[in-house]
Amino acid sequence: MDNAHCCDVTVLELRPVGQSERPGEFYELRLTNPGWKRWHPGQFVMLRPVSWGLEPLWGRPFSICGVDDEALTVFFQAIGRGTRRLAELAEGDKVTVWGPLGTYFAVEPDTPTLMLAGGIGIAPFRGYVERHPNPANLRLFLAHRMPLGCYPYDRFAGERAECLRELNPKDLEAIIARLRALVEEYREGLILCCGPTPFMRTVRNFALEFGARAQLSLENRMACGVGACLGCVAKDGEGHHVQTCLRGPVLWADAVQL
Ligand code: FES
Repeated sequence: MDNAHCCDVTVLELRPVGQSERPGEFYELRLTNPGWKRWHPGQFVMLRPVSWGLEPLWGRPFSICGVDDEALTVFFQAIGRGTRRLAELAEGDKVTVWGPLGTYFAVEPDTPTLMLAGGIGIAPFRGYVERHPNPANLRLFLAHRMPLGCYPYDRFAGERAECLRELNPKDLEAIIARLRALVEEYREGLILCCGPTPFMRTVRNFALEFGARAQLSLENRMACGVGACLGCVAKDGEGHHVQTCLRGPVLWADAVQL
């Protein structure tokens, strides 16, 4: 956290994603670059609109999707009170940004690397691909429930990206079978995973079964992001309780129990 700092930035754009199919739920938010000296894919950022003032609303943690000269970008799904309020932001609004925070995904340029994303868990992998020194060694699998247009999947399109949509129990069986096959294929490589807890639990179990090195991002469990709400508590490899916002969000699969 030595590099983390707090500042106010400006909304450049809030763009609904996949609006024609699922209005008002998925958004890409672009904020003016907060001037970070460095950041790593897998880390998160806390966002709180300045207009919330003294309202009893925490800032919200989000995976960092990307940072370029102009903007810090995050994707989010408006499913709770805080994120629905964030979806009301407009160009020019001020947002307090605290970050970059937490642990991050390993980068091994010469190791075949598999990215496994469940739904909006795809967000940190966009930055991962953009910053990776050898993207030819990367492959992505996305399992999703909403229409594909709701996710930033087009940034990965190509033969090294595949997706499966879950609409019924048969689809779920197909996704689990595909995850198992992919984890086995990459058991000598590096596996990175981000998504809902059941998705990561499945990946973790396969990684342990095949002895694969896998990292999980537990960012979906976080609420306050600062160690205050205890909403993110998980057990580490020895069964001790840990707050993933303080120890993670990225942890090795054998160092956490799900
Ligand atoms: Fe609140 Fe970790 S997210 S304690």
